Amino acid sequence: MEPGMRGKSVLLIIGGGIAAYKSLELIRLLRAREVTVRAILTKAGGEFVTPLSVAALTGTPVYQDLFSLTDEVQMGHIELSRAADLVVVAPATADLMGKLAAGIANDLASTALLATDKKILMAPAMNVRMWESPSVRRSAETLAKDGVLFVGPNDGEMACGEFGPGRMAEPLEIVAAIEKSLAARGGALKGLKALVTAGPTQEPLDPVRFLANRSSGKQGYAIARALAGAGADTVLVSGPVEIAPPSDVKLLKVTTAREMLAACEAELPADIAVMSAAVADWRPDRMANSTIKKDGEKKSPAITLVENPDILAALSRHKNRPRLVIGFAAETDNVVSNAVAKRSRKGADWIIANDVSTKENGESVMGGDRNQVHLVTATGSERWPDMSKTDVAHRLVQHIIQQFQSEKI
Ligand code: PMT
Repeated sequence: MEPGMRGKSVLLIIGGGIAAYKSLELIRLLRAREVTVRAILTKAGGEFVTPLSVAALTGTPVYQDLFSLTDEVQMGHIELSRAADLVVVAPATADLMGKLAAGIANDLASTALLATDKKILMAPAMNVRMWESPSVRRSAETLAKDGVLFVGPNDGEMACGEFGPGRMAEPLEIVAAIEKSLAARGGALKGLKALVTAGPTQEPLDPVRFLANRSSGKQGYAIARALAGAGADTVLVSGPVEIAPPSDVKLLKVTTAREMLAACEAELPADIAVMSAAVADWRPDRMANSTIKKDGEKKSPAITLVENPDILAALSRHKNRPRLVIGFAAETDNVVSNAVAKRSRKGADWIIANDVSTKENGESVMGGDRNQVHLVTATGSERWPDMSKTDVAHRLVQHIIQQFQSEKI
């Protein structure tokens, strides 16, 4: 597996052409390399492959309509165009190339292409005469000058029976071009250092027992991956979890809250801190040197708890305070009002508030794959729809990028 691709995300725009069937294989190859793929299917693309097959292969909804309320609620089109590490157009039709070259945005695909701040890689596919037409030549030249990357087209026999350049590059060639483009990517957060905490802490009672919680680390790991994907030099301070670390982050494994604090402080200065770990507020006042025994008496052992340091509050008030400090709030009721209070009490810039109570179907944010959060800032709060933890991570990173770009902090 190409290490540079794992954990990255691609927005794939599928244009209308017979080569669209190859984009299904492209999705499969990318997913096998642990690349997240979101797809926009143009109206013409939908004549060649079905939204259902694209959705089944990507594992995410397919975006088709600029004015779809459902799509906009899930992810606005501007955000869709920026949440990926790379935008890939395959097949890239004369129509899509022409629109981007001319600055036309009259559907979801062309709007996303114009609005993106990421590199665009096009895999053109069209009839050889179209490819060689002065108009498409002009589009290709303009796009190349604007920094758009190309893979193919290849020479060969076309579906229409003609021979020459115009065949879309094979899926494996496109994968190789994607890998190259991702490796060359600078990223909007390049030059910035991000510090992320994730997972639970374990507070020992004796050599084999500890106090902990059900945090899996999934949310924090997704954030670290997304920050690294955006070019940030990312350090992930993780409590004990069972998931594989992202390839391009520095991983520091800790067990207790005090170790987590020490690891975070040792990594300062940093520009961004995202504290998503479920740190134990309390720890046993002492750890027994040998296992606490059932001594045959009716009396159960007393455990005295003492307060752990608050890592978020400590970083917020640190002399080397990161420029943007983001905490989480795990709430079971009054989610937003408790998060608002937590934001000022702990001195964070933003709080991501999530409801961690167990739902009727037995699912919980802690340990689960999805999250529904509120972003609480100094100016108010916004509710994000229920989405995967990876999507929460990408959306958060988009906000971080915007914040740094607008230099409001
Ligand atoms: O790990 P997952 O299974 O993916 O689940 C994700 C999550 C539910 C753990 C995550 O989304 C989340 O909500 N993390 C914060 C959990 C938490 O400890 O919330 P809190 O409301 O108790 O703490 C508020 C903030 O203070 C958090 O940023 C926390 O990291 C921080 N904190 C808390 C206590 C402490 N002693 N030190 C801290 O820094």
